[in-house]
Amino acid sequence: MRQSSLVVIANRLPLDDNAAPDGACEWRRSPGGLASALHAILEQTPATWVGWAGGVGPAPALPDVGTLRLQPVSLTEEELRGYYEGFANSTLWPLYHDAVQQPTFDRGWWETYRTVNRRFAEAAAAVAEPGAAVWVQDYHLQLVPAMLRDLRPDLLIGFFMHVPFPPPELYMQLPRRVELLRGMLGADLVGFQREQAAHNVAQLAKKLLGAHATDDAITVGGRTVRTGAFPVSIDVAEMRALATRPDVVTQAGQLRHSLGEPKRVLLSVDRLDYTKGIEHRLTAYSELLRDGYVKVRDTVMVQVAVPSRERVESYRDLRDRIEGEVGRINGEYGRVGEPAIHYLNQPFSRSDLAALYLTADVMVVTPLRDGMNLVAKEFVAAREDGAGALVLSEFAGAAAELEQAFLVNPHDVDGLKATLLRAMEANGEDLAARMSSMRRHLTEHDIMAWARAYLSALDHSGRLAERLTAP
Ligand code: ADP
Ligand code: F6P
Repeated sequence: MRQSSLVVIANRLPLDDNAAPDGACEWRRSPGGLASALHAILEQTPATWVGWAGGVGPAPALPDVGTLRLQPVSLTEEELRGYYEGFANSTLWPLYHDAVQQPTFDRGWWETYRTVNRRFAEAAAAVAEPGAAVWVQDYHLQLVPAMLRDLRPDLLIGFFMHVPFPPPELYMQLPRRVELLRGMLGADLVGFQREQAAHNVAQLAKKLLGAHATDDAITVGGRTVRTGAFPVSIDVAEMRALATRPDVVTQAGQLRHSLGEPKRVLLSVDRLDYTKGIEHRLTAYSELLRDGYVKVRDTVMVQVAVPSRERVESYRDLRDRIEGEVGRINGEYGRVGEPAIHYLNQPFSRSDLAALYLTADVMVVTPLRDGMNLVAKEFVAAREDGAGALVLSEFAGAAAELEQAFLVNPHDVDGLKATLLRAMEANGEDLAARMSSMRRHLTEHDIMAWARAYLSALDHSGRLAERLTAP
């Protein structure tokens, strides 16, 4: 087996299989923040990405993506249920997102989570050169750092958590809280989106492991693990290039025309997930329509909600509720050929997304809790014209960086309505000033800056970070 000096392990590979109309298998980039971010930095870097290719049964043979080699890990039907749909997405995901949905603690899922984590650790150990760096991603694989250290003590091990890491009072609910904490602390460097998360982990390490811990280092079992905040970002240059391409600009104009040339277009783009606050947003919009603050012909809302985790019951229920509510709002306020909300439950290409971002007057990003939220950053990067307003939840990691957005508490529906109106009515000068300062921030803090900051903290020699620029 070919070996690499840089190995990334993430639950999902950056490609999804997609059945083409003729039944053949086509590969397409998977939606989701992690895949978007890492795909952008690794496409040009000699490395191996270990991950699941979607589906069950024997892992398919996968094409390389540029210089990136893909090493698939297979899952059985039972593992998919216990590890991905169960422990990762029905226990950890809701708990880590402020328990906005009740987490399920099913004792049967734990063993499967551990078995699958071991498989990922073994797959990475098999493709890592002696002394290689292995970068483990996200809550699906929280046990992998310690497992890898046992298997391969020669490796430099990084871990990055893309989702929020909860405060101790929530984390303490986890039946396997000690094992999960020890697993993550098997890394040399544990990175988070926000400093608060590093603080939470330090508190837990003291409480549960008796460790000596500060917000940037935890000493336990004779080893010191460094921790810190590394807010993830996007490929700003890619989004700018897309959004200034003449065909994309033309497409945006056509979209606006198809929407009936309204005065204002409100846009939301989310994975269809209960953390994204889609229902709160629909309530706010529906009340604005009811109370006559917005009128269907003048204002149009576009809600893109790409299907996600559809085999998990809570996601299917959410989809039913959202589709019911969109239907109700359109039934009540729409006119023939003029719906109040255009609802699109499908994946889009990067250029289609760029055209949508260009069409929006107000981008509405209102998650109840989000590790970062890259959609907000993509919108800002796309708006070279300096126009457009960003309404952004205070509970998205991105709010700490995009402070000039119209920040809002999405749980407060009245506050959300008032903020939407403020954003819709803001003057061009105000919007341009806000946008220009957010764009400046993003230019300096793009995805490459994130990867360099993380990798040079992992490997002080700087050699690892230098490899990112390799052709
Ligand atoms: P999460 O990681 O929770 O999915 P983020 O906002 O951080 O949320 O990242 C979502 C990513 O998925 C973005 O890069 C966005 O462009 C992409 N995405 C969202 N909706 C779609 C869609 N309908 N089709 C394709 N990609 C999408
Ligand atoms: O950003 C959080 C995350 O879980 C990522 O790991 C993933 O890219 C994204 O959400 C999409 O989720 P899933 O891989 O379950 O479709």
